[in-house]
Amino acid sequence: MMRILALAALLVASFTVNASEEAAPKADPTKGKAVAETICVACHGADGNSMASAIPHLAGQGEAYIYKQLTEFKAGTRANPIMMGMAAALTDEDMKNVAAWFNQQELKPAVATNEALIARGKHLWRAGDAAKGIPACAGCHGPSGKGLPAQFPRLSGQFPEYTEVQLKAFRIGERANDPASMMRTIAEKLSDADIKAVSEYAAGLR
Ligand code: HEC
Ligand code: HEC
Repeated sequence: MMRILALAALLVASFTVNASEEAAPKADPTKGKAVAETICVACHGADGNSMASAIPHLAGQGEAYIYKQLTEFKAGTRANPIMMGMAAALTDEDMKNVAAWFNQQELKPAVATNEALIARGKHLWRAGDAAKGIPACAGCHGPSGKGLPAQFPRLSGQFPEYTEVQLKAFRIGERANDPASMMRTIAEKLSDADIKAVSEYAAGLR
């Protein structure tokens, strides 16, 4: 019985992942540039390098991941008042195009500044914490934090403040758009100190 349940869970997980892969956009980055320069520029920068730590960098982020987030902001399955308003004005084409544009831009990465946090962050990133049931972030987001296009977002060079907010949102289930609850299950086990440490470490990853 347990085996059947585990298999069913796996099937659900792989179905969800495949569904987002099929949505992988075919897009025109030149048209996306026009959208970025007229709308997104105010907050994310026309090249996806944001100037404020509460607003994520989009430069070099996975194309399918950006597209997925935009469709979810539009549908309201990822709730953020600002981005829900922005996405409402975009067509499906716009979303694909702008995702392709930002994906192709070069990230000017954030830097890790808090040395004291880096050791714990590095440990969580590379090995997780078996005692607390936390898997290594590297297992999905990659050893250097570049992510895996279509499934796992890039976290390297992102503002630590933004990463922290997202992990806390996953932890309380306020952000619930992660396939098969992958991030909610992990974030539930992270303390505030863990979140601060791993966010700082990811910011400094290259
Ligand atoms: C008024 C400011 C503002 C504008 C304009 C804006 N955004 Fe955002 N965007 C935000 C904020 C703030 C967040 C973080 C939301 C959160 O904390 O969940 C965000 C998050 C995102 C994310 C999620 C990134 C991630 O790593 O998960 C994407 C994708 C995104 N924006 C795309 C766009 C695009 C494309 C445009 C232009 C069409 C745009 N945004 C315009 C403020 C803005
Ligand atoms: C089993 C795979 C898996 C593991 C392990 C994992 N993640 Fe994730 N993570 C995901 C997926 C999938 C998403 C994308 C969710 C979505 O589609 O919105 C994600 C998204 C995120 C985001 C949101 C990024 C953004 O731009 O908004 C953060 C932050 C994050 N993960 C941090 C971590 C940290 C820190 C760890 C280690 C403690 C970790 N993840 C381990 C699968 C994983």
